Amino acid sequence: MKILVSYATSEGHTRKVARWVADGIYDQGHSVELLRLADAKDIDLDRYDGVVMAGSVHVGHYQPEVAEFASAHASKLGNMPTLFLSVSLAAAGHDAEDWRGLERILSEFTDATTWTPDRVVQVAGAYMPSEYGVLSRFVMRRIIAEKDPEADLDTDHDYTDWSALRREVDSWLAEAEA
Ligand SMILES: Cc1cc2nc3c(=O)[nH]c(=O)nc-3n(C[C@H](O)[C@H](O)[C@H](O)COP(=O)(O)O)c2cc1C
Repeated sequence: MKILVSYATSEGHTRKVARWVADGIYDQGHSVELLRLADAKDIDLDRYDGVVMAGSVHVGHYQPEVAEFASAHASKLGNMPTLFLSVSLAAAGHDAEDWRGLERILSEFTDATTWTPDRVVQVAGAYMPSEYGVLSRFVMRRIIAEKDPEADLDTDHDYTDWSALRREVDSWLAEAEA
């Protein structure tokens, strides 16, 4: 199969996720194209057998280019195997309210774009003080100090469960192939 792995990122972690997912799909013998959604203008989805889309949550929303792409291609995406990777720090924890928030963000996204992915994976993202500006650093330090009291607040920390993500992508691929 030929799979498009598309992503949007603000601090860079979702690019890492997308590259890693693309490598895994390639290693399974498929052909893969990695595309930053900001550069997706004029893309023809008929060239692909499946699409992975990844975006990260910032203040309750995915990057605008994620919704723009999903809206623009909703009907084609609805007729092919699709996997949406929603990257956030809420997904790193077990707070029921945070998880309800993720469900709400996702349902606002599917309502607004009219695209409902075949499968959605909530991926725990990363805390990246090395990439933050002054305001984000202040806000994120407070959030991480509360959610992960053991964390070193001056150091980047990756919360992604890579083996769980591998299982999800492999299972989606197997379904897409069938
Ligand atoms: C300014 C800012 C706002 C954020 N807002 C949220 C949020 O509302 N909910 C959440 O779960 N995570 C939030 N995060 C965490 C990001 O989703 C997480 O760090 C993710 O890994 C970022 O991915 P990226 O590096 O690809 O942009 C926020 C991070 C920043 C820097």
